[in-house]
Amino acid sequence: MLKVDPINPGKEVIDEAVEVLREGGLVAFPTETVYGLGADSLNKDAVKRIYGVKGRPPDNPLILHISDLSELEMVARDVPPSIYELASKVWPGPVTFVLRKSDSVLPEVTAGLPTVAVRCPAHPVALALIKGLGRPIAAPSANLSGRPSPTTADHVIKDLLGRIEMILDGGDTFFGVESTIINLTTDPPVLLRPGPVGVEDLEKLANLRILVPAFAKGLEEAGIALSPGMKYRHYSPQTTLILVEIGQCLTQTAYLKYVKSLINEYIEKNFKVAVICSRETCPDYEKTVTLEIGSRNNLYEVAKNLFKKLREIDELRVDVAISESFEERGVGLAIMNRLRKASSKIISCVPTPTPTSSPP
Ligand code: TXA
Ligand code: MG
Repeated sequence: MLKVDPINPGKEVIDEAVEVLREGGLVAFPTETVYGLGADSLNKDAVKRIYGVKGRPPDNPLILHISDLSELEMVARDVPPSIYELASKVWPGPVTFVLRKSDSVLPEVTAGLPTVAVRCPAHPVALALIKGLGRPIAAPSANLSGRPSPTTADHVIKDLLGRIEMILDGGDTFFGVESTIINLTTDPPVLLRPGPVGVEDLEKLANLRILVPAFAKGLEEAGIALSPGMKYRHYSPQTTLILVEIGQCLTQTAYLKYVKSLINEYIEKNFKVAVICSRETCPDYEKTVTLEIGSRNNLYEVAKNLFKKLREIDELRVDVAISESFEERGVGLAIMNRLRKASSKIISCVPTPTPTSSPP
């Protein structure tokens, strides 16, 4: 476990981590999204070990991390100039492209698929590691399969201590949700996973339309042909988590009233309840433990705290947790996708009748 300055990573620490990777070891490292669990992408045994230590199903491929756009041709083929142009606008950054793979990419990285997921991260530690190794790093999120992705070194320790060779502690990650993934091998391109960069923004930058299937919103499971990883259950706390969708509650007052009535139903049954709520609404809940996730006016803040709060639920020892919903715009789509996947039950808000509007 080594501390590393997230902005100016020291050469000694990076050299040590690179040495571990060269010897076939696994290194957990911070990226701007979540912590990754890295292996030398050309070392078959090291890549295979990633699946073992995470308990990851063997049909769920990994992302290749490169340190510069010029390295794209090493891992992908038939990349049209328009995609280079788009990549140059969003990289380094939290966007992953699925492209046709080149022959040099190991089948263990892509779980046997003819395509490869590639991203150039913006985090100085991640970039220094890839540059130091001189090859792409294969890295999924550094959590046990099914658990929320780690946004602190502490989360990595909880899941993987003793199973991997090194953890680089660069503090909290910046965005807190995993990269936006777009499959560019189909026409039109398809959003496989919403992330920090909104589809609306990508569409404008690329001047193209991106299909947003229901599974990318977290509303249904993905078919294996579309995206192998998306069919697995994710992020779920052990505690029952109920997500309350906005539904027909068009005002915040109506929504809040409904969530409160739901909480009261559980309290009346002697359940201990926790609620994931925004800075604006948390003060309105009494008799419940509140997990404040950030301001409704700053969805980046909500995204950054999301996985931390999901992990905290299980530490509270409550009988049930209830989560508010957030607006599905920009990074909000990623927040709602993760919340829907994490919850064991989704309820749609219906306005509760007020005494004046109820029938006589
Ligand atoms: O922000 C991120 O993307 C983080 C950091 C560490 O870079 N990584 C990450 O990796 O979230 P992981 O393995 O947890 O999620 C990668 C997702 C999986 O759902 C996987 O199925 C999908 O990408 N994926 C990888 N290769 C693919 C491919 N060739 N076709 C379709 N989906 C692919
Ligand atoms: Mg993951």
